Amino acid sequence: MCGIVGYVGHRPAVEILLKGLKRLEYRGYDSAGVAFFMNGKIQLKKSEGKLENVEKLLNASEPPYSSATCGIGHTRWATHGKPTTQNAHPHRTGHIVLVHNGIIENYQDLKKEIITWGKTPQSETDSELFGFLVEREVQGGASFVDAVRKSFTRLEGGCSVVVMSENDPGVIVGVRNGSPLVAAIDPQGGAVLASDAQPLLDITQEVFFLEHGDVVVGTEKGIEFFDLKTGAKVQRAMTKIDWSVEKLDKQGFAHYMLKEIHEQPTALVDTLNSILDRAKTDPFPLALQPAVGILDKAEQIMLVACGTSWHAALLGKFWLENWARIPTHVELASEFRYRNPVIMPGTVVIGVTQSGETADTLAVLKQMRELGVPTLGVTNVRNSTVSREADAVLYTSAGPEIGVAATKTFSTQMLVMLLAAGYLAIKRSASSNKEVTKLFHDLVKLPMLLSQNLEEGGAWMQVIRKAAQNLYKSKGFFFIGRGYSFPLALEGALKLKEIAYVHAEGYAAGELKHGPIAMIDNEMAVIVIAPCDRWRDKTISNLEEVKARGAIIVGVGEEGDEKFRSLCNHWIPLPHASDLHESLLPFLVAPIVQLLSYELAVLKGTDVDKPRNLAKSVTVE
Ligand code: AGP
Ligand code: GLU
Repeated sequence: MCGIVGYVGHRPAVEILLKGLKRLEYRGYDSAGVAFFMNGKIQLKKSEGKLENVEKLLNASEPPYSSATCGIGHTRWATHGKPTTQNAHPHRTGHIVLVHNGIIENYQDLKKEIITWGKTPQSETDSELFGFLVEREVQGGASFVDAVRKSFTRLEGGCSVVVMSENDPGVIVGVRNGSPLVAAIDPQGGAVLASDAQPLLDITQEVFFLEHGDVVVGTEKGIEFFDLKTGAKVQRAMTKIDWSVEKLDKQGFAHYMLKEIHEQPTALVDTLNSILDRAKTDPFPLALQPAVGILDKAEQIMLVACGTSWHAALLGKFWLENWARIPTHVELASEFRYRNPVIMPGTVVIGVTQSGETADTLAVLKQMRELGVPTLGVTNVRNSTVSREADAVLYTSAGPEIGVAATKTFSTQMLVMLLAAGYLAIKRSASSNKEVTKLFHDLVKLPMLLSQNLEEGGAWMQVIRKAAQNLYKSKGFFFIGRGYSFPLALEGALKLKEIAYVHAEGYAAGELKHGPIAMIDNEMAVIVIAPCDRWRDKTISNLEEVKARGAIIVGVGEEGDEKFRSLCNHWIPLPHASDLHESLLPFLVAPIVQLLSYELAVLKGTDVDKPRNLAKSVTVE
């Protein structure tokens, strides 16, 4: 959740730390800090709030920090103790200075023990305690690296640390067990560590993803890996990252979220290209990612996810049942993991997680593995933890998603669900070949259709902006839909809550009259998603019910559906939708609900890319 960056070498370390931490800002944080060597001593600068506060402290400090060539930095997302300057990382204990990502589950026991040594922690964090353990190991005669290693074995729970010692200038030691850590060699001489590959891309595209239980030691000579338990040297394979650093910039868009909404056509094409074997002529030739084969014998599928990924999973159920005729269940990971569920023989569990790091989703996959249930991960981040926890992985190729609100990763998750359904439909002859072929041909038309409508002069941008201007003072928002449009209604409401901080609910249109319709009056906006599919007429009846009670209606429906349009205060058309199979309509509706939420958030003046209280990957339970 938080961000870690460490550097040692010949370049200005503090600049690298700040730039790297900025690249990780999108993940969400509440305080920040850096520590660096100056004249043999470690200096700490940390503050609650934004990274700019740390920059101000640095700019005011003497002597100037630009000559420092070794340091570590952190953006914290508080789990233990308030988001104050005191609790911000790095933490110092004697000569040891550290940053930590994740949770030390046995921190209460460790704290009691440390107090019996006559020591007093200065912060409320679990993290600080680690420094006391390292210091004691060093006092007991261990070398710095060994002290970090041995101390880490005492921690319970998934976390990572990066540590420096004033007695060992020019050495940074990282340990990964759970929370991700990535290392790289600086081609100019040196080493860089971070909790995510992005900060490393300013230095090199050749990176090493640490495995659980890896210790990495960085010096100006490069990096070395050791086994956490034995201390023996280990080799790790290098991964060449194919994202260039330019991909991480806004490229003229006001926000990353807006850029990422516009990148959906490309993200879909890239995902298709990475999964489909275009040389084959049969529809849904999923040969390029053989991981899908784990589904071949599934008698039942269980999709497990959180948040937006859960909405993609709900659509996955529709497609898998409709096309492949496989009974499919969808579960919220945070609920499922603490139940005592019945897993039928022949079940395959699919964990859907764009980040590949969501703690609850990973926990379910782990539980399933222990039970011997086959698992498949669907993720956008190569080498993320899910690729280790699941038996097989299907990758989306949305490219880096910086906005905390998931947009293009959602569309590509939907695509993977649909591709898997089509693949199984063919494999099991569960649907007619003609129908599946039509679905496939329609599917490949989607990116072009989306591009045309997302252009500034296209069908959506201006009408959505205008609708937002008229709606942004509404007391509350309902998104309603049936069938495929129900998960989209949930997603629209989640996006709006998440980035505009307004009350919004997603509802199955037919459920409104069972309670929430009592809330409807002329200050409520209702976004009615009713493309021309088999549910349209029923949803229009539900529209009439809320309209009769004064609601302001925003219609999302097929261009030319004049009856529907005449019932609406605002109208957002789905162009050419009737040409497409109804299974594909969610791909057209997704950017509409994303853009509407985006425009409302901009009018509210919120921090669209980094909404308050949220983080891009939720690595705590
Ligand atoms: C999406 O806009 C949210 N930020 C959030 O609901 C997210 O989808 C959820 O935390 C799950 O994340 P994951 O896909 O990385 O597992
Ligand atoms: N548990 C630590 C703390 O509360 C680290 C949190 C984080 O990952 O940012 O300080």
